[in-house]
Amino acid sequence: MPYAIYHFPPNFRWGVATASHQVEGDNKRNQWWNWEQQPGRIAEGHRSGLACNWWQNAEADFDYAMSMGLTSLRLSIEWSRVEVAPGEIDTTALDRYREMLQALKDRGITPMVTLHHFSDPLWLAQKGGWSNPAVISYFSHYVEQVVQALGEFATCWCTLNEPNVYASLGYIRGVFPPGEQNIKKAALVLRHMLQAHAAAYKLIHRLQAAASVGLAHNIRFFDPVNPRSPRDRMVARIQDLWFNRTTTAAIWNGIWLPPVGYGPAFGMRHTLDWIGLNYYTRDLIAYDKNAGPGYGRVERTPDAELMDGGYGEFYPEGLARALRRLARLGIPIHITENGIPDTDDDQRPRALLLHLYHLWRALQGNIPVQSYHHWTLVDNFEWAEGWTLPFGLIEMDLRTQKRKSRPSADLYAAIARGNAITPELIDAYAPELRPLLLPV
Ligand code: FCB
Repeated sequence: MPYAIYHFPPNFRWGVATASHQVEGDNKRNQWWNWEQQPGRIAEGHRSGLACNWWQNAEADFDYAMSMGLTSLRLSIEWSRVEVAPGEIDTTALDRYREMLQALKDRGITPMVTLHHFSDPLWLAQKGGWSNPAVISYFSHYVEQVVQALGEFATCWCTLNEPNVYASLGYIRGVFPPGEQNIKKAALVLRHMLQAHAAAYKLIHRLQAAASVGLAHNIRFFDPVNPRSPRDRMVARIQDLWFNRTTTAAIWNGIWLPPVGYGPAFGMRHTLDWIGLNYYTRDLIAYDKNAGPGYGRVERTPDAELMDGGYGEFYPEGLARALRRLARLGIPIHITENGIPDTDDDQRPRALLLHLYHLWRALQGNIPVQSYHHWTLVDNFEWAEGWTLPFGLIEMDLRTQKRKSRPSADLYAAIARGNAITPELIDAYAPELRPLLLPV
């Protein structure tokens, strides 16, 4: 019987990722809270409410993370708590974050701190949010306060989470606040976010010698439904350019791609110490002149395995593809998010094993991936989908706040502790993968 073990590099970090608004609870001062009060905005009329109660007791979930053998935890700082009105800093909020970061340290867990993860202070939203060029200096001021207050506990900073998703869902699809459908504005928002990233990158390095600064970039593949159709190929390529390539072109290559801009992106080149990858799925795209901006319609092949809740195609190979693409930048990569919505945990163990197998393959090809953060530790408020998409390794009953481990949590813990995928784990959690992962 062959006994292959997929070992990961000795210093590889295993973690989970979260975001303030999705877990803290009672974030009443941001634009999402406001959005949740409007009828029809969130699936089934759900609200974030108390969320996972992290503002009171993140420590209980940090205990779970520690008991699972995790060494990294990505969390975000809620701008609306820190800066309650323009220029007005609430130091008690910063104290609470210091307490949380100390709690992680006590548990041997290194934090990765995201400075902006989709939620904006309401006062900023009322000034036009990220479509207002003033946001760049507002963001810098906030970042300065956070890095000064928390720099003692953190050196790994993620400026922004998924500017491409924020701009697309808020300003093209209109399913995130402010619910607009305006391509020009989406491009402007993305441009300001990338400029704010570059400014924050430089600022953080001025404030902290040991800082390591990056951004979490969502890569989603857009493949032509019919690879022989020039029109399908063209629309898939347009979506790929807009969604996947503009971000790294600006902040790594120093080039604006249309529609975000044209030509050199001054002062933006090489403003990354690492790039974060958030990977979930891909779309197959067909040309359709009625499909709105980009003329691409999403299709699924009949044999495609789908994820729960309409979340898209189950496509673990995409992780390796995304890593190969990012490897061209020649800088370290962190997997800042990867996961699957799955209430009954019937797909997640296999999803975990397959994604980690593709990660392992990328590592064998010398792609410098330093960490993997699973999205997410505990079921949380999934934005416009409310509580309908449970991404947690741990299940949470919203009414009682009771947690219950899913089998995937045990699998992930075993992988993290052993820093390896063993045949025993494959046999115990997804024996159907034996032919692929352990061919005789
Ligand atoms: C990502 C977001 C994260 C979470 C996952 C499922 O796009 O960054 O907050 O919603 O999707």
